[in-house]
Amino acid sequence: MDREKVALRVGQPDLTVTKGDGFVTAALNPEAWLKPSRQSTVRAWFGLDSRCPLLIQWWMTSFWTGTRVRLRGIEPDDWTGFMRFAVDEERLGDAVRPPRSAEGHRAWTKEQASAETDGDCFRLAIEALDTGEMVGAVSSNHADPQAGRFEYGVTVGADHRRKGYAAEAVVMLLRFMFAERRYHKCEARVFDYNQRSLALHHRLGFVEEGRLRDHVFVAGRHHDLVLLGILADEFDRLHPPT
Ligand SMILES: CC(C)(COP(=O)(O)OP(=O)(O)OC[C@H]1O[C@@H](n2cnc3c(N)ncnc32)[C@H](O)[C@@H]1OP(=O)(O)O)[C@@H](O)C(=O)NCCC(=O)NCCS
Repeated sequence: MDREKVALRVGQPDLTVTKGDGFVTAALNPEAWLKPSRQSTVRAWFGLDSRCPLLIQWWMTSFWTGTRVRLRGIEPDDWTGFMRFAVDEERLGDAVRPPRSAEGHRAWTKEQASAETDGDCFRLAIEALDTGEMVGAVSSNHADPQAGRFEYGVTVGADHRRKGYAAEAVVMLLRFMFAERRYHKCEARVFDYNQRSLALHHRLGFVEEGRLRDHVFVAGRHHDLVLLGILADEFDRLHPPT
């Protein structure tokens, strides 16, 4: 393995490489090296066989890149992902709606991709760092800068759940709204039977502030809507920047 030769090829003169017992660590720029296919190229350059672990130390260049996911703008090609999420989250975040055609999803996603942010209301795609796949979406809604309050929503595709994607994406979104946009409080509204979402919010430190009784009508009957909230200083204590 010739560090300098590899550094030249990846266009990173300061590339650091650590070779340990049975592993190699390379600090590669995530913008360029997220895709597993590219990681195979790097393996080949280092002369490593496919079983040798290659630990990539991501450069934390972007506020929007975490350890599992990054948040990015929506691209027109994301429409198939949104079509899947609509089925996966049926009855969980919203009432049942008539299905939208593929063309409808394409048009909606294209519109989202070029939409201007509306104040502090915006929607972002959640992309898994290890595969580069879009695994979900997160949005801030109903932002009221005068009161310093906003709501948010999150969805993760059924095939990608319980991998910590939602938790990391939500923390990133809330950190932006609290630390960069000076908001004071985040609210979430969850159907009372959505146990996964309630568990996620409790795990993140949201506090149940009340419930609107028989507030939504789903699957033939009324359900309560649970109101949860977290304040900026509570968030800072629980999720200090790393
Ligand atoms: C709720 C939802 C966003 C969670 O996404 P996720 O990526 O699976 O969540 P994470 O893996 O980040 O989980 C973080 C924590 O939430 C809790 N949690 C999430 N899913 C859970 C489940 N099925 N059962 C119990 N706890 C759960 C756990 O405390 C978990 O931490 P742990 O895995 O260390 O125990 C996802 O299930 C989803 O998209 N549901 C449909 C849409 C929806 O309900 N959105 C919210 C509307 S308000």
